[in-house]
Amino acid sequence: MGSGVVGTATGEGFLAAGHEVTFVDISASRIRELQSRGHDVRTELDLSGESDSFIFLTLPTPHAGYEYDLRAFSAGSTAVGKALKASPARHTVVVRSTVPPGTTEGLVKNLLEENSGMVAGEGFALASNPEFLRAVSAAEDFRNPWMTVIASRDPQTVERLRLLLSPFGGDMRTFSNPAEAEFVKCSHNIFNAAKISFWNEMWLVAREIGLDLDPIAATVAKSAEGSINPQYGIRGGAPYGGVCLPKDTCGFLGFADGVGVDMPLLRAVVQVNEHLEKVVSNEVEAAAEQAVPNTDRA
Ligand SMILES: NC(=O)c1ccc[n+]([C@@H]2O[C@H](COP(=O)([O-])OP(=O)(O)OC[C@H]3O[C@@H](n4cnc5c(N)ncnc54)[C@H](O)[C@@H]3O)[C@@H](O)[C@H]2O)c1
Repeated sequence: MGSGVVGTATGEGFLAAGHEVTFVDISASRIRELQSRGHDVRTELDLSGESDSFIFLTLPTPHAGYEYDLRAFSAGSTAVGKALKASPARHTVVVRSTVPPGTTEGLVKNLLEENSGMVAGEGFALASNPEFLRAVSAAEDFRNPWMTVIASRDPQTVERLRLLLSPFGGDMRTFSNPAEAEFVKCSHNIFNAAKISFWNEMWLVAREIGLDLDPIAATVAKSAEGSINPQYGIRGGAPYGGVCLPKDTCGFLGFADGVGVDMPLLRAVVQVNEHLEKVVSNEVEAAAEQAVPNTDRA
């Protein structure tokens, strides 16, 4: 459902693995393109007469300012709900688009239930399975994923998706709450964006003082524990401390300022850490206060 970059890679990947696939899209040019490649393409999802199937929602979820625009995604989900109503079989709806956490069990579940007259988990199954492929190598990435994430409240649905997707290989992580899978995908993209902005900000400073960033960044990519150790720095509620990180983040901010380069990302790094220090110390104090009456009573 939605046969653009992700929908096409998903559908063609399943076709190559021997599955039957129907592509659905509302764009005339997408439909012509997919028909020219010999695929079964429809302008509407029709499930009447279909036996149990997986329906992958690979609809667009662009942003409008600082918000996701879920209008096309909602329209596609609504159409799936109506199609479910016309089918006696129990289908599995899988959210593969990148969506804000809570969308599968909030928006999608409601739209499917309202439009099908059925209840999720009974009349149809519902799952989240975000796509990690890169647009430049979409087909190749779908067929050789390095990470597959599946989430559903229903363990049998997780298992069915595991069987469907495990032949493609790669690491597989499963969750029982779809919001966790949705959070994984959003974090994945935001982490990549933050890393890119970090090095771009460092590049501005390096350029200002006449240094070539490339060999520097390539060295740090192999030296920084945050880069070489996947476990480093990933625990929430744990601000950095010690001597070196507070010293060099604050010191470098002043250094960059001295050569005329503003570093909003580095400043935010310091501010976030200061904020977390307060949050953690408030929570420790609150826990200690709660513990006192107990001690007194004892
Ligand atoms: N492009 C990527 O590299 C990439 C990678 C991972 C995840 N994603 C996510 O996957 C989702 C899809 O992205 P994409 O790049 O494939 O988008 P896309 O724009 O290439 O494709 C979306 C397709 O959905 C169709 N569509 C829109 N409304 C529809 C409706 N109501 N019914 C049926 N079809 C409809 C459009 O015509 C279009 O062909 C997004 O959530 C995106 O964030 C994208």
